[in-house]
Parts: sequence; structure tokens; C-alpha cells
Amino acid sequence: MSDRYQQLVNTPIGKIVSKQIGLPAPVKLERYERGQPVIDGPVLLGAAPGGRLAGAAAQVLAAVEAEVHTALEDDARSAAADAGLDAQVWSAETADEEQRFKALVFDASGIADSTELHHAYAFFHPTIRRVKASGRVIVLGTPPDDASGPRQATAQRALEGFVRSIGKEVRKGATAQLVYVGQQAEDQLESTLRFYLSPKSAYVSGQVVRIGASALSADGIDWEHPQAGRSALVTGASRGIGRAIAQVLARDGAHVIGLDVPALQSELEATIGELGGSTLVLDITDDDAPQRIAEHLLEHHGGVDVVVHNAGVTRDKTLGRMSDEQWDMVIAINLSAQERINEELLARQALRENGRIVCVSSMSGVAGNAGQTNYAASKAGVIGMVHSMAPEIGKSRATINAVAPGFIETQMTAAMPIATREAGRRMNSLAQGGLPVDVAEAIAWYASPASGGLNGTVVRVCGQSLVGA
Ligand SMILES: NC(=O)c1ccc[n+]([C@@H]2O[C@H](COP(=O)([O-])OP(=O)(O)OC[C@H]3O[C@@H](n4cnc5c(N)ncnc54)[C@H](O)[C@@H]3O)[C@@H](O)[C@H]2O)c1
Repeated sequence: MSDRYQQLVNTPIGKIVSKQIGLPAPVKLERYERGQPVIDGPVLLGAAPGGRLAGAAAQVLAAVEAEVHTALEDDARSAAADAGLDAQVWSAETADEEQRFKALVFDASGIADSTELHHAYAFFHPTIRRVKASGRVIVLGTPPDDASGPRQATAQRALEGFVRSIGKEVRKGATAQLVYVGQQAEDQLESTLRFYLSPKSAYVSGQVVRIGASALSADGIDWEHPQAGRSALVTGASRGIGRAIAQVLARDGAHVIGLDVPALQSELEATIGELGGSTLVLDITDDDAPQRIAEHLLEHHGGVDVVVHNAGVTRDKTLGRMSDEQWDMVIAINLSAQERINEELLARQALRENGRIVCVSSMSGVAGNAGQTNYAASKAGVIGMVHSMAPEIGKSRATINAVAPGFIETQMTAAMPIATREAGRRMNSLAQGGLPVDVAEAIAWYASPASGGLNGTVVRVCGQSLVGA
């Protein structure tokens, strides 16, 4: 449903009134349209001395043909030159007051102890107010677990608080992310940096993601159609977020197999028919559902490359008033069915090499929610499943990850009481709800064959909700 408040505060009079009385001022977020460049505007690249990630970042910026700026005395300048970039010179002292950046990218991996955190302050202090609308702040670091000792681990961990605070300070639809890149994982940065730089990550902010090493490289990938030649199963695909996931994966070149319950067969066929995909009609909680799914995928597609567990339901009641059926149904659909399907697909080797399982969790699973003990348990369980299955799945060169959406504008949230709906919309750094496509874009990033370095991770698509950290 449309966000009337957002429309109102973006009228000339609404802007003046909301500013004067200090109301939230959500801006229209830039979202990706087919054929757009990854980033449209100048990028400032910087690095703390002795870092190991500016080179990898510069290579990605070169690949996306970004207009790159660096300071003269910054390690990032030689990294940019090595990547073949003819970077413009940036100087805080002499810069034009009007100079703005679409993205600030900072390699913090060289920060070896807490005193050196000053390098991050020094890079962002003169630049943070120069971030454009829907701009990007991206900090690259070393995972504390991979650090050379306690002092480095401490300083790298400190970056989390720094970046999450930037997410809460930047305005006008800008976002901030921390990307930890493990040792030997520098070559896995590209898909994540492209996603975070681009308008595809419009509603993702304040996130910390860890990239690990992977034997599979992204060499030769067609970034416009990363799913070309691949098949993708999407459960609950006929409407809402599932429909957007099917559309985005089809845009990326996948053959989409849309799955939904018999009652929604005609809606499913209409949605998936438009995308040139195929359908599978069944209830995922049926006893034989995992076998039927595996057989269908093996018989018609020789296996599957991407599985998106999106089907989900709510049956809200406070615990004392919740019926057995309400508890059992939510756990069965949202969690147990995913486990059973995964187990069957793995046992039958139906998930191909470089395959992806992407699960849909929820902010309720992160933070808990009154009236949702069943739903929050199921969605927290999804996160547990992702963490616990990742090592095993990783051995077969596949990955499993989850997205946890916050407030997304769907039929489900349109049906909320107005006070709950308004609170959900505004209580995040972007002061608005996300769209189904925002969840779909995050899933497409995880589903990309270039995202082999992401395994066992969870990213929230919640505009940096104030709830649940
Ligand atoms: N809308 C939000 O704000 C929000 C927030 C967080 C998480 N989520 C999660 O996102 C996912 C999609 O949510 P949505 O808002 O699009 O909901 P929706 O109700 O519009 O769509 C859910 C789909 O799942 C299908 N489904 C339900 N039970 C099924 C079963 N047993 N077998 C097969 N298919 C089944 C439904 O038929 C429907 O097509 C869910 O997992 C939900 O929990 C949504």
C-alpha cells in the first residue's frame, strides 16, 4: 500500500512543516532499473596504512567504470593506479564546497589497534557530510576471528559500532555497511561490493557481513545475467515477496520454478507464466513434498542451482491464547518444511555445485515480537539452520544464507492496525518501509554464482530497524 505520510512530507509545504517540527523525512529511495550502471556518481576510495583490501576494491571500481577519487597521500592511490584507474585527486583542504560523493569506500583492514581507529575518523570526518542522496558508505575490514592478535581483533570489532552509527547519522536515503573480508577471500569481494554500491541494496543498511574464501571464482560471469543457464526454485512464488523474488531471478537470467499451494495455482501460473518459468503446485508441509520436489527438479531440470525458501505464514496470538494448530502450522511451514526439503535435496544430490540455498527469516526472528512466539521461533530457527548447515553445504561447494526482512510493504503489513503499521514504517534509519523488490535483490545477491564467499550469513533488509540491533 502507498505510504501517504512519505508522499505528504515530500511536497514543498510538507518539507517545510516536517523540518520545523522535527518529523521524520523519508526520501524516495533510488532503486535499480535494468541497464543502469552499478554506481552513478563519484566514489572516494581511502585506506588506513598497511591494509590489504584497497586493491580488491579498486579492481571492482575499475570493472564498474566508476569515477574514482583518492587523496594524494593515501595508500588507496597506488591501489587505484595498479587497478588501471586514473583517479582524481581529492583534498579536504582545497575541495569545492559543493563536491559530493555517491559512495565513500574505506579499507580499514590496516587498522592494527584501537589507537589506529583514528584513521577511520580522519577519512570520514571531512567527507561524511558530502554523501549524496541514496549514497553509500562501505567500510572493509578483517574479521576479528582472522585478526593477527587481540589488539587487531578488538580494533576490527570496533568498526561495527562505528559503521552502525554512521548508518544512523547519514540522511536522505544513504546507507552504511561493514564488510569483513577473510584472509584469502579478497577475490570474493566483487559480488558484495557491486550489490552494496548499487541501488539494489536500497533498503539494506547498518549490516555486517563476512566474506570467506571460496574455491570458485567469479571469472567470466555475465553481471547483467548472472543466473543465465541456471534454474531457481522459489516457494510461495505466486504473490508478495515470493513474486518479486521470481521476477528478479528471472531478470537475472534464471529459469524460475515457482511453487505454491493448490489454492493459488491460477495466480502462480499467471505470475510465473509471464516470466517464462514453470510451476510446481503442492503444499510444502505434505509428507511427500520433499520427495516430489526433488523428483521434479531432477527429472525436468537435472537438478537445481538456487532454492529460495520464501513460503511462510503468520498466525499471531499471545502464547497463552495460542492454539495447538496455530503453533504447529507456523513451525511446520516456516521451519520444518525447509529442513526436510534441504535434507532431501542434499541426500539426492539435487543441489548442483555452486548451488545456493537462500532462506527468508524475519526481524521477528532476530528481536522477538509480542504475539509471535510461534513465528519468531520459526524465523530464529531458520537462522539456526543456516548457521548449522553452512559447514556441511560448503563442503559440496554450495552455500546457505538468509535474509531477515523488516517492515516490507505487502498485503500482510497493509492489514496491520494503523498505529503498529506507522511505527513499523518509521522506526528505522530510512524512516520508511521496504518494498518486496528490496528483499528480492538481497536474495539475488546471495543467489549469484559469484557469491561463493558468503556462507552461513544473515543480512537484514530492514532499513536498519531500531529493533533488534
Ligand atoms: N511482509 C513482510 O513485511 C515480511 C517481513 C518479514 C518476513 N517476511 C517473510 O517473507 C516471506 C513472504 O512473505 P509475504 O509477505 O510475501 O507473504 P504472502 O502471504 O503474501 O506470501 C506467502 C506465500 O507463501 C505461500 N505458502 C504459504 N504456505 C505454504 C505451503 N504450506 N506450501 C506452499 N506455499 C505456501 C502462500 O500461498 C503465499 O503465496 C514469508 O516467509 C514471511 O514470513 C515478510
